[in-house]
Amino acid sequence: MLIDGHGRKVTYLRISVTERCNFRCQYCMPEKPFSWVPKENLLSFEELFLFVKTAIDEGITKIRITGGEPTLREDLDKFIKMISDYKSDIDLAMTTNGYLLKESAEKLKKAGLKRINISLDSLDKETAYKIAQKDVLDRVLEGIEEALRVGLKIKINMVPLKGINDHEILDILEYGKKRGITVRYIEYMENAFAHGNLKGLTGKEILEHIKQRYEIKKLGRSGSSPSFNYQLNDGYIFGIIDPHKHDFCEDCNRIRLTAEGYLIPCLYFDEAMSIKEAVQKGDIKEATEILKTVLKNKPEKNRWGHDQNEISNRAFYETGG
Ligand code: 5AD
Ligand code: SF4
Repeated sequence: MLIDGHGRKVTYLRISVTERCNFRCQYCMPEKPFSWVPKENLLSFEELFLFVKTAIDEGITKIRITGGEPTLREDLDKFIKMISDYKSDIDLAMTTNGYLLKESAEKLKKAGLKRINISLDSLDKETAYKIAQKDVLDRVLEGIEEALRVGLKIKINMVPLKGINDHEILDILEYGKKRGITVRYIEYMENAFAHGNLKGLTGKEILEHIKQRYEIKKLGRSGSSPSFNYQLNDGYIFGIIDPHKHDFCEDCNRIRLTAEGYLIPCLYFDEAMSIKEAVQKGDIKEATEILKTVLKNKPEKNRWGHDQNEISNRAFYETGG
C-alpha cells in the first residue's frame, strides 16, 4: 500500500505520455510559438512500464493516460496492452481530445483500455475552431461515436468560458444526455500558459444555466473524484469540478508522471523527482525509493487560495491537467 506523508492512501497514477498536442486550446497552450521537448528526451514505453509495474505492485489500482494528446504517441495501444496484461483488473482510462479516436478507439479498447474522457467544449464548428484554434468539431464527434460503438465508457469534459462557449452549457448537457454520456463541467483554471484574456464560469454560474431548464438534485462527490455530481429528474447525472471553491487535497489519492520521467506529487507545486535514470538503468529498487520519497514529500495542500493571484506554473499540456 502507498501512504503519503499525511496519511493519504495513494492509488491513482496519471501518466502523460507526450506533451505534444494537435490542438492549441486557448485555456491550455501559449499564444506564441514554442518548442516541444525533443522526442529523444522522452521515456520509452518499456521504461515507463518498468515504473508502472512497480507502482502497481506497491498499490496503484487506477491509471489514466494523458498528454498533451496521448493518441499522438505511436504504439500507444501496445503500452496499454502491457499494463492491462500485467494487471487485467486495473482501472485503465485515458483523457483525449478525440481527434484521432475514429482511427484508434477500437485498437485501444482491444488493448485493454476501459474508459475515456473526451474534451468537447462546443457543438458549433466555429466556436470549436476558436477554442482549439483548428477545425476540429466533425472529427471529434465522429471519434465519440466510434468510441461508443466499440464499447468504451465515456465522459465529456467541457470548460465553459465567458463570451465564448457559455451559451452552450445546456446544448452539451443535451448531447450527453441523449447518448448516456456523463458530462463534466470544469472551471477554467488560470495558468501561466493560457491566453491572457480568458474568463471562466464558476461552478455556481454553470449550475444557473442548467437550472434554467431543469430541476437539480445534489448528489455529492464519489470517492476521491474532484467532480461534484448532480442529478436531473429523469435520473441523468452530470458533474461540476470547481477547484476555485474546493481544493481536493484532503483525500487526494493521485500522483503524476510526465513523459520525461518526472514524478509530480501535486499539480500546484514545482517540486518533482525524476525516475528517468533509475528506469534507464533498469533499477527497480531505486525507482521504488524515488516513488516513496515523492509520496513522503507530497504536500498536504496546494498553494491555490493562499494568494488570489496564484496561478499554476506547470503547463497542463505537460501534466495532463
Ligand atoms: N482549465 C480547466 N481545464 C483544463 N483542461 C486543460 N486545461 C485546462 C484549464 N486551464 C482540461 C480540459 C481537457 C483536459 C485535458 O484538461 O477539460 O478536457
Ligand atoms: Fe491539447 Fe488538451 Fe491542451 Fe487542448 S487542452 S491543447 S486538446 S492538451
